[in-house]
Amino acid sequence: MTAKPRVFSGIKPSGDPHLGNYLGAIRNWVNDQDRYDNFFCVVDQHAITVAYDPVNLRANLRQLAALLVACGIDPDRSCLFVQSHVAEHTELAWLLTCTTPMGWLERMTQFKDKSVGGQRERVSAGLFTYPTLMAADILLYDTLVVPVGEDQKQHVELARDLAARFNHLYGDVFTVPEPVIREVGARVMGLDDPTKKMSKSDEGANRTIGLLDTPKAIQKKFARAVTDSEGHIVFDDNRPGVTNLLTIHQTLSGLTKAELEARFAGRGYGDLKKELGELVAEALTPIQQRYIELTEDPRTLDQILADGAARAQAVAAQTMSRVRQAMGLR
Ligand code: AMP
Ligand code: TRP
Repeated sequence: MTAKPRVFSGIKPSGDPHLGNYLGAIRNWVNDQDRYDNFFCVVDQHAITVAYDPVNLRANLRQLAALLVACGIDPDRSCLFVQSHVAEHTELAWLLTCTTPMGWLERMTQFKDKSVGGQRERVSAGLFTYPTLMAADILLYDTLVVPVGEDQKQHVELARDLAARFNHLYGDVFTVPEPVIREVGARVMGLDDPTKKMSKSDEGANRTIGLLDTPKAIQKKFARAVTDSEGHIVFDDNRPGVTNLLTIHQTLSGLTKAELEARFAGRGYGDLKKELGELVAEALTPIQQRYIELTEDPRTLDQILADGAARAQAVAAQTMSRVRQAMGLR
């Protein structure tokens, strides 16, 4: 039997996880668990690259880990752990930082977006070197496949380039990873402004659907979702509002573009929004039920994360030993 390809992915505990996280990432991790050898990481050290509150960070971390299990990440089939529980991540991040040309980091669009104008003087150096920590996450586990949403593609490509550069400089140490991005759902947009992606650091509560939102709140947010004045319901890149709603429908209903357009021909936005609210609530309700059960039993979650950290650390320690050897640090 050949070993299954290794998958690694991460998610930041920096706020309430949302429908974009679920459709762009978590759901795909869950559905592909049998195809891969899986490592999923709650990346708390990435969350501290911007201003944060330590008490909230701890609460967010537990909420996110429990939600991942509730979404279907199965601790028997996947190693689920917290980044800061495995010290090798920061050690490798430094070694990779010393191997990364400044120019590569300066080209990262996420850093450029978050450090516009005078902000550049104030943002942390950690925000700048964020992609080298992410590369360390990936490369520590001989990862082949990195399933992410569209916004992380450039970072995964940097990890791939860094692995190749490192192997060229110091010998064949790292597996070279590939980003895997699903066609549908890889970029869920904000409901209040469909030109901005749905994100945890939202300006208004109407931008995102939280995974813990009630059916009523979900219906209300879809009802208020920004569309346009054209009225007919078709996929159209120039009409991001209605296209975003149809895309969300597609991820959950599995209908093709043509089937969806036929379904809503001659109908109004109100119908689409109502149906979407029902579809999303239906998908989230069982997740919320499992989440509540898990929060009532904190020891189970502690055990899952402790087991995950031990498993991850065993792999990471081996990689680090090869890295130190190759770099002349031993
Ligand atoms: P983050 O919340 O930034 O840690 O992202 C965790 C995962 O969710 C990554 O794979 C992201 O690419 C994905 N993701 C975040 N926001 C969205 C979005 N609006 N649409 C699709 N995927 C997303
Ligand atoms: N930076 C990613 C995000 O914001 C999260 C992340 C950290 C990650 N390390 C990773 C994703 C490694 C994939 C692989 O979404």
